[in-house]
Amino acid sequence: MVIAIDGPAGSGKSTVAKLVAEGLGYLYVDTGAMYRALTWKALKEKGDLKDENALTSLSRQTEILLKEGMGKLKVFVDGEEVTESIREGSVTENSFYLARVPSFRAEMVKQQRKMARGNNLVMEGRDIGTVVFPKAELKVYLDASLKERARRRFLELKEKGINTDLEVIEKQLQARDKKDKSRKVAPLKIAEDAFVIDSTKMKIEKEVDLILRKWRENYGAAKSST
Ligand code: DC
Repeated sequence: MVIAIDGPAGSGKSTVAKLVAEGLGYLYVDTGAMYRALTWKALKEKGDLKDENALTSLSRQTEILLKEGMGKLKVFVDGEEVTESIREGSVTENSFYLARVPSFRAEMVKQQRKMARGNNLVMEGRDIGTVVFPKAELKVYLDASLKERARRRFLELKEKGINTDLEVIEKQLQARDKKDKSRKVAPLKIAEDAFVIDSTKMKIEKEVDLILRKWRENYGAAKSST
């Protein structure tokens, strides 16, 4: 059983996906962490992010591992834990380079499908309902206005003691949206049969409740996820 949750940066996918997974006792998978993980390594090794061949060969020499433990998803690159480091601004701003490399995406998709073997899961990303699991039992597209997503990100950073400018965040999110939606391979788009939620004026609990209800309505309707 797969619940696919897609949507733009800052739409609250991670929080919602985690809570839905928790509610159902399913495995939670954040696919963005995989793209971030290799970006982190490429930045560390001062690799040329514009060179697709170099990125492909780097990915072949890299082991990316997602491990769930104590309700938290931990990310490892070649055995080193990078759960926190992959959230740094430099990784966020540069991960689109990896996201547009077809060979790397193909490998990630393979691994993501493998995770569903023998597991019920809630997987979030940009292409989960459109490419990874086109037959997912439930597809959700989570959206929110640019202003609201920027406001949320601003508050999140403030809570971490990071002072930024709301306008700058809004511009960064807008640029990321554009890159995610316009890339040639697996662009962010709404799957035809997705349940679209606009969370601009919605509380997290309501979003989770809507998804769980939809899930119960659909449960058992489909048999296979790939
Ligand atoms: O969701 P996020 O911000 O952690 O995603 C990090 C990067 O990976 C971002 O550039 C979008 C990309 N991504 C993707 O292309 N496909 C996915 N399934 C998940 C993330």
